[in-house]
Amino acid sequence: MSKVYTVAVLVGSLRKASINRKLALALADLAPASLKLQIVEIGELPLYNEDIDIDPPPAAYTAFRNQLKAADAVLFVTPEYNRSVPAPMKNAIDVGSRPYGQSVFSGKPAAVVSASPGAIGGFGANHHLRQSLVFLDMPVLQQPESYLGGAGNFFDEAGKPNDSIKSFLQKFIDTFARWIEIQNHA
Ligand code: FNR
Repeated sequence: MSKVYTVAVLVGSLRKASINRKLALALADLAPASLKLQIVEIGELPLYNEDIDIDPPPAAYTAFRNQLKAADAVLFVTPEYNRSVPAPMKNAIDVGSRPYGQSVFSGKPAAVVSASPGAIGGFGANHHLRQSLVFLDMPVLQQPESYLGGAGNFFDEAGKPNDSIKSFLQKFIDTFARWIEIQNHA
């Protein structure tokens, strides 16, 4: 049987009705059999502080780091706040990147999706996030670029994606699956 890759999905919005959470769930539904997407919750992580990241670190840090360590790849799905990365997402990146030399992200294939009801689809957040991923040494999927504007209209009342976005999401997740496969054989 061919390998099934586990993808940790980090969602940058904490609100229940989040468009980005719906996108993450839609991508999990559409993912090919070679991928298993799992949302890793980031809302309970204490704000990163080196003073508390001692032995033992906060239990929430350890649980988060263990879930990320067990994953083969990471998918970031995020809104844009003030043209940048929402604080919970940046905090999760900071927590996962430490202790120094023990980053849970290093070398893992990644992809970034940003979505907004606005026209430019979280482009600013998407690229600010990518700046961190360079430092974290993650090979990031480049195409298709995923700045999803007008995202308030993507879902029906049951939270399912409509046809205007579904084919793009399918293409995106299939391409990400191939990217993960390639990186694992590099
Ligand atoms: C926003 N929003 C927003 N939208 C955008 O396209 N560019 C931006 O810079 C911002 N800035 C911003 C800041 C803050 C603090 C909030 C709360 C919101 C609007 C945002 O895209 C919208 O609320 C989305 O619905 C948030 O994503 P979720 O929660 O639906 O996933």
